[in-house]
Amino acid sequence: MVSGQKTRRRTCLAIVLAAGEGTRMRASLPKVLHAIGGRTLIAHVLNAAIEAGGSDIAVVIGPDHDAVAREARALAPKAKIFQQRQRRGTAHAVLAARKAIARRPDDILVVFGDTPLVRPQVLRELRAALARGAAVAVLGFRPADPAGYGRLITRGDDLLAIVEDGDATSEQRTITLCNGGLMALAGKTALDVLDRIDSRNSKGEFYLTDAVAIARDMGLKAMAIETGEDDMRGINTKAQLAAAEAVLQNRLRAAALEAGVAMVAPETVFLSADTKFGKDVTVEPNVVFGPGVTVGDGATIRAFSHLEGAHVGKGARVGPFARLRPGAELGADVHIGNFVEVKQAKIEAGAKANHLSYIGDARVGGGANIGAGTITCNYDGAAKHRTDIGKGAFIGSNSSLVAPVKIGDGAYVGSGSVVTRNVPDGALTLERAEQRIKPGWAKRLRALKSLGKKKAKKPKR
Ligand code: UD1
Ligand code: CA
Repeated sequence: MVSGQKTRRRTCLAIVLAAGEGTRMRASLPKVLHAIGGRTLIAHVLNAAIEAGGSDIAVVIGPDHDAVAREARALAPKAKIFQQRQRRGTAHAVLAARKAIARRPDDILVVFGDTPLVRPQVLRELRAALARGAAVAVLGFRPADPAGYGRLITRGDDLLAIVEDGDATSEQRTITLCNGGLMALAGKTALDVLDRIDSRNSKGEFYLTDAVAIARDMGLKAMAIETGEDDMRGINTKAQLAAAEAVLQNRLRAAALEAGVAMVAPETVFLSADTKFGKDVTVEPNVVFGPGVTVGDGATIRAFSHLEGAHVGKGARVGPFARLRPGAELGADVHIGNFVEVKQAKIEAGAKANHLSYIGDARVGGGANIGAGTITCNYDGAAKHRTDIGKGAFIGSNSSLVAPVKIGDGAYVGSGSVVTRNVPDGALTLERAEQRIKPGWAKRLRALKSLGKKKAKKPKR
């Protein structure tokens, strides 16, 4: 094993193949833009390649796949995008990035855009094989059903050739070690090897897998590195997408538990690849974390809550049955209770909204109390407006705050108010009809009914 440092110093080009049509997904969205763990397939692959030291990124896309190029650039702004106009095989796709290969990086990683579960350490092992002198290094695995995969022909540690399923003899088909598809090529010999690949095979395609036998014919070394089936899961169908999601969720749950998050039913909690937890966090059952959530130390997320694009401050309590939408920023010790929705709103330290509320496009000052049924009426049918609630304010239950509106520090809104004008600091606002009492009215009504006078007039109100 070479030292990590040596691997790091070598330059590395990662080529992501994403020219596939993905017709079996039966979706209008390009295949690699489907997501697992709140992140697109291509983003997972790019992240793994970057973490494995891929300093230069090339993405090979099909025609009319501008959206794929945009997604790749969002993650790797310097990524070079190459178009493969006709799908003529995996080696042909790699050669679409000829210009990047010709710059002779030390290592070249070829990864598939639809194989999102490959972990960076597995890619690093491929690179380490190059550092040990291999010209080609291949990831092998033993799938439950090898049908359809290329088979690795080995002798001891040496990899002799890869035979595609359609070109294999029945004897070769009994080999259980299969090609995961991902490969590493030594930069200095890569073009020489790739340019010798032809399309004389059952599919008439340029097979990247032929690089192995060609490299050996040239007197170069090829190696296979075995990894688990999960890393190699390719996605062609929605069922495989769901299966990959399940594997990823288990990895994310295990990592969260390992980091100290308390979960009594982790199998019911759904995480995103970028969910971040502080220390001493508790997550109750059936919570969904969409992308972009951070949870501070000591916070508790109670059952059946849904969070995305939100920050939960230290010691805060969320749920049960709460919804935090993008831009929800909860300060320390905030309480957001059942059936409360928060969107684009900063809830400052110690503020509470415990029941049945919508807080959108707002600021709620520290220590303020938002009564049950309070609604920020942020949308007038055309535009969104802001509500600003001062620190220590008290909003009585069932109040509508019609934005734009400002409630001052320490102000008091009487229950049931419809607030349309700003309320100064420390003031009270009350906005409701006067309550009248008619003594004995109900009693008289019942007395009339008991006399059988069904159609009798109600007593005067
Ligand atoms: C490939 C391997 C096979 C391996 C299997 C693992 C080859 C020749 N075969 O077969 O040994 O067991 O993966 O899943 O490499 N692509 C392009 N342009 C093309 C062709 C493919 O961009 O012209 C991309 C696809 O979008 C996909 C990847 O390359 O991401 C693999 O192509 P695919 O046709 O699925 O290869 P397999 O036949 O599955
Ligand atoms: Ca495939």
